[in-house]
Amino acid sequence: MPTPLHPRTSRPHLRSVSITGVGSYVPARVLTNADLEKMVDTTDEWITSRTGIRERRMAAPDEATSDLAVAAARRALTAAGLTAADVDLIIVATITPDMMFPSTACLVQQKLGAQRAAAFDIEAACSGFVYALDIGAHFVQSHTYNTVLVIGAEKMSSVVDWQDRNTCVLFGDGAGAAVLQNRPSAHGLLTTCLGSDGGKASLLELPAGGSAQPTSAVTVASRLHYLRMDGKETFKNAVNAMVGAATVALEKCGLTVDRIRCIIPHQANLRILSAVAERLGATEEQVFVNVDRYGNTSAASVAIALDEAVQQGRIQRGDLVLLVVFGAGLTWGAAVIEW
Ligand code: UT7
Repeated sequence: MPTPLHPRTSRPHLRSVSITGVGSYVPARVLTNADLEKMVDTTDEWITSRTGIRERRMAAPDEATSDLAVAAARRALTAAGLTAADVDLIIVATITPDMMFPSTACLVQQKLGAQRAAAFDIEAACSGFVYALDIGAHFVQSHTYNTVLVIGAEKMSSVVDWQDRNTCVLFGDGAGAAVLQNRPSAHGLLTTCLGSDGGKASLLELPAGGSAQPTSAVTVASRLHYLRMDGKETFKNAVNAMVGAATVALEKCGLTVDRIRCIIPHQANLRILSAVAERLGATEEQVFVNVDRYGNTSAASVAIALDEAVQQGRIQRGDLVLLVVFGAGLTWGAAVIEW
């Protein structure tokens, strides 16, 4: 059996980084395909056969992204045996921040009572959690911080056009969190691989409300504050990018896919998951799926799935886990973790 390489920790002055706790939160309200049939011209049959999604969660009107993030973070800290006072840094990955500024991470810091923590947001759309994991890991590796809280959180219902059947059936709300620390006995995060292609930015975007098209009566009337997607092109790019990122990450560790106990892909569409698994040569049993219950929760997606996989006993100490993501930007990434 080949020994995995540990490219992240091959330099002696760098510490290894482990995920010492995970947690997730989804809002209570369930929106089923039958509910959507009453809202737009669609059918349960179309949504299920094209996407695998049966239902998704919707945040309450008074529940913002920071509230979802805090609920997930509390669970991750409890799982790690820590309190908010132990956190040195909070990174929130989101495309649905509470507001333009301050950052959602600062609002989470206050709501959690993590008074020692620095806080900032990152934005890599659906790839955000793996980007944030990579950034957070560098702070632990370099001895800058001991405890980093990484959160993927989205209230996608706030940016979805509920009149556009092409997109509104796909997304859901939720949050997932992970605590990063050095655990000397474990290898932890073995490697990451990130990528982007801004040349394809227009495939999936929310055009207005930023500096390019500030909010005006015209942008609102033109429905430019909702997300737009070229589904077919996005689909093709998603499969290619996820297969590419996973392959590079595995190669960097000297691993083949059969060594991976659990593959956790971004939960965008069941057909994308199946295509990625097939092209990687993975079995169905290796791939974790919860898109049927939550739809696409963007940056929260793999974080929620990771927590559920741990809770269900799909991942045990010492198992190898592969996260693989894709999103607007375009962005993509993969991470290999020894649990
Ligand atoms: O998380 C970031 C990345 N996002 C993704 O990875 C999403 C990638 N894309 C997809 O998952 C798929 O492309 C979709 C699920 C969005 C669409 O599936 P598709 O098989 O590519 O369908 P399509 O775009 O070819 O649409 C086929 C037909 C169209 O009708 P016409 O033009 O052929 O008459 C659509 O208007 O289905 C129609 N359609 C719908 N019909 C019923 C689109 N949405 C719906 C709907 N219900 N909700």
